[in-house]
Amino acid sequence: MPTLNWIGKDKVVNHAAAVPFHVLEHKYNFGGESENKIIHGDNLLALKSLLPEYEGRIKCIYIDPPYNTGNEGWIYNDKVNSPQIKKWLGEVVGREGEDLSRHDKWLCMMYPRLKLLKKLLADDGAIFISIDDNEQANLKLICDEIFGAQNFVANVIWEKKFSPQNDARWLSDSHDFILIYAKDKLKWRPNLLPRTAEMNARYKNPDNDPRGAWTSGDISVKTYSPNTDYPITLPSGRVVNPPVGLCWRLSKEKFNEMVADNRIWFGANGNNVPRIKRFLSEVQGGSVSKTIWLRDEVGDNQDAKREIKNSLSGAEIFATPKPTRLIEKILRLATDKNSIVLDSFAGSGTTAHAVSNINAQDGGNRKFILVEMEDYAETITAERVRRVIQGYGQVAGISGSFDFYEVGEPLMIQGNLNENIDIKKIHAYIWYTETHTQYKKPSNGNPAYLGDFINNTPFFFLPIAKSSEIVFNRGA
Ligand SMILES: C[S@@+](CC[C@H](N)C(=O)[O-])C[C@H]1O[C@@H](n2cnc3c(N)ncnc32)[C@H](O)[C@@H]1O
Repeated sequence: MPTLNWIGKDKVVNHAAAVPFHVLEHKYNFGGESENKIIHGDNLLALKSLLPEYEGRIKCIYIDPPYNTGNEGWIYNDKVNSPQIKKWLGEVVGREGEDLSRHDKWLCMMYPRLKLLKKLLADDGAIFISIDDNEQANLKLICDEIFGAQNFVANVIWEKKFSPQNDARWLSDSHDFILIYAKDKLKWRPNLLPRTAEMNARYKNPDNDPRGAWTSGDISVKTYSPNTDYPITLPSGRVVNPPVGLCWRLSKEKFNEMVADNRIWFGANGNNVPRIKRFLSEVQGGSVSKTIWLRDEVGDNQDAKREIKNSLSGAEIFATPKPTRLIEKILRLATDKNSIVLDSFAGSGTTAHAVSNINAQDGGNRKFILVEMEDYAETITAERVRRVIQGYGQVAGISGSFDFYEVGEPLMIQGNLNENIDIKKIHAYIWYTETHTQYKKPSNGNPAYLGDFINNTPFFFLPIAKSSEIVFNRGA
């Protein structure tokens, strides 16, 4: 399989494993008991910190990373050049990127984050990534490498704007992509989308069939077989044969059976070439998504800006936010009512807004986890979610809650456990690194007891005096 190479790749391919675990420091809760999280911090650290609790549990990941347009003027578009990422590149790749192209830097930034996202995905989960032509081709190649080319599902085209840009030097750019990978394509199936009134309107009942409305389909097929090439006598007495080179779809016996069951339509006057009746009551309960998503259905950048302005009191903060209807479509396709949804490039928090909307529509209890690196994680991301919960303008609130976290201290300092950290968090971390399963606090009163693992082996954690002497024991 062809793979992509770039400057710095050798430093980042295994970097995800080396990223230190940090604790998530709880800052406040909004709206009561919650399983929703908004995390302020670099997603590399945040994603790693989520592993002990969430590895293999996220059903749907949506990310909208910086597109790397080279346009420095936009507020969030080129965060590959932000001080945090520059510092990180300096530490990991060994240089702040003087001789790295913006594509090298972007790939170095994305690669380890995608590796962690893959770990977080459930076996029957999928990741959706918004991107445009600046990095689409590179992203496809690294995703093939990380998720496996066999798990590529589709590269959706989203019509992001309507008006042509007449000052464009070449072509007026009117779409983005959404690249979709399943964790395991054999296990992931998208949900059918609800049928629209427009689709159902194609079904009529001109002969008052008691089975209800129907539409009709062609009875001839291109794959020729002499067995299904026979003359049909219409109710009017006229005889018809298949068009030249074609034959009928049905054997003569099956055709007669269907005529007897009133499943063949010869037209109101009984003189038309026969067609097969397909009843609305018998078609599958939804429609399969196409790979082109038009703005009429899912909204465009203008809709998204309007939504942010409305929900955040007039602020026009971002150049290219995503409309809630776009994310809602992803959630309809890729979640069930109790799924956990993760967005680690959260921006204005559209994903949390969309999760709340969908839950309100179908009575679901989906949970969201958002990560945002900039300080507006509190003033914009969390603020938008607060307003969605409380209601804003004419829009009624949608009941909900969330917990706000900062990426906190590392769990280890120079090879020793960080003694400032709550022992419960250390237990969860030790359990996860030893078992790679989620830590569930055992009911046993022994404070050193972590739980039982394979073959009911009890695990104990015995801190002795100094962290450098901490003993980890398997078995009683
Ligand atoms: C294109 S925006 C997302 C917009 C969002 N979909 C919306 O509708 O508002 C990308 C966001 O990712 C954030 N970001 C970039 N690098 C990050 C990192 N390493 N960790 C966390 N957030 C990051 C940026 O600050 C920015 O807010």
